[in-house]
Amino acid sequence: MSLAVDEIRSQFPALARTINGHPAIYFDGPGGTQVPQRVIDRMNDYLVNHNANIHGSFATTRETDQMLHDARVTFADFFGCDWDEVAFGHNATTINFKLSQALLRDLQPGDEIIITDIDHETNRGPWLLLKERGLVVNSIRLDPDTLTLDQEDYRAQLSPKTKVVALNYASNAVGTITDVRDMIRQAHAVGAVTVVDAVHYALHGAIDVRTLDTDYLFCSAYKFFGPHVGILYARKSALDKLRTLRVAPQDPEPPYKFETGTLNHEGIAGAAEAVEFIAEIGRTWGDDRDAALVPYTGRRKAVVAGMRAIDAYEQPLARYFREQLRLIDGLRLYGPHEGVPCTSTIAFTLEGISPADIAHQLSEKGIFVWDGHFFATRLIECLGLTGSGGLLRIGLAPYNTRTEIDRTLAEINALAPSRPH
Ligand SMILES: Cc1ncc(COP(=O)(O)O)c(C=O)c1O
Repeated sequence: MSLAVDEIRSQFPALARTINGHPAIYFDGPGGTQVPQRVIDRMNDYLVNHNANIHGSFATTRETDQMLHDARVTFADFFGCDWDEVAFGHNATTINFKLSQALLRDLQPGDEIIITDIDHETNRGPWLLLKERGLVVNSIRLDPDTLTLDQEDYRAQLSPKTKVVALNYASNAVGTITDVRDMIRQAHAVGAVTVVDAVHYALHGAIDVRTLDTDYLFCSAYKFFGPHVGILYARKSALDKLRTLRVAPQDPEPPYKFETGTLNHEGIAGAAEAVEFIAEIGRTWGDDRDAALVPYTGRRKAVVAGMRAIDAYEQPLARYFREQLRLIDGLRLYGPHEGVPCTSTIAFTLEGISPADIAHQLSEKGIFVWDGHFFATRLIECLGLTGSGGLLRIGLAPYNTRTEIDRTLAEINALAPSRPH
């Protein structure tokens, strides 16, 4: 049964908003999705009824300990791992800075790190910084025609000197999904540690860290219906060894050893509820005959089914959107070739009008889209778009509709240099 968008929409209070009399259209999902009422209620409930610091002896502190543990168990079902492999943090960027600085403690000048040209700066900047400590950092080339990573270039860079490979699961700028599983296998073959940025992927596909076999993977709950909290999966055997940055009284065991100071308790409660929201989508609209669900049970199965239902809803809409955009004179789409795995994120430029101007014009009609580089600055540079304002990006979420797409197409058509064929 395909996802009933009206039922999904009714759970998101933000969708009631109007701008200049137009119902707001939230196509800004890759920058952060809207939040269902149940997530808001869960955060309120924490703050009203359970708000305290951890490890005390009174009711609210014990409830907070329990809530944090339950949230780890919930995210274990999101990643397909054990609860003690889930650590919380401020956001993906802060998590990766902490991870890279911790790994640095066991690296030597001359050791090599591989990053990619397709990544958001979150998974480039923290590694590039290590150059000042004598580390060698090389970036895998992006093929500007296919918008995929050059696998030959990757193979040529890998060597026993490679200590860390930092990869991107899905591009937040152009939607390309990278076959990180195979790249992780190659990295492990030379003894390197792997780090995957799944921030953009997490809204569009089910994550299975055991199948990927990565050492680390991070994402951010605000990209999938939650509040602003970052989450790290860390393989137990890897985190056991990692010399994390922490103060002496802090618990030295995984996963706590990665966390610093007091966590965002209400945010973590809300993030866990966002996973429950996805699981509910799976229970309601998941496809029972889907062979991909066979290995899973319980809430993990519901989460995977939910992500697959979201993807099955978004992909035909994205295809339709791209097909219609292709008909517009002067519009150039930026994405991988047909058939290459891609999220429902659409990027383009339009002749004669800058991405910023398009975003501004659409915003007047209540249509929220992002323009620019989205922190994927290296990718924008590879496409030669740095000086011209980057890309216009439209991201689909499961609360978006065909009517919203048609309304947006009409507005983009009106901005185009001439009418469609
Ligand atoms: C692919 C990707 N990585 C990293 C980030 C940064 O995440 P955070 O804001 O949680 O640091 C983003 C945010 O847009 C992203 O899309």
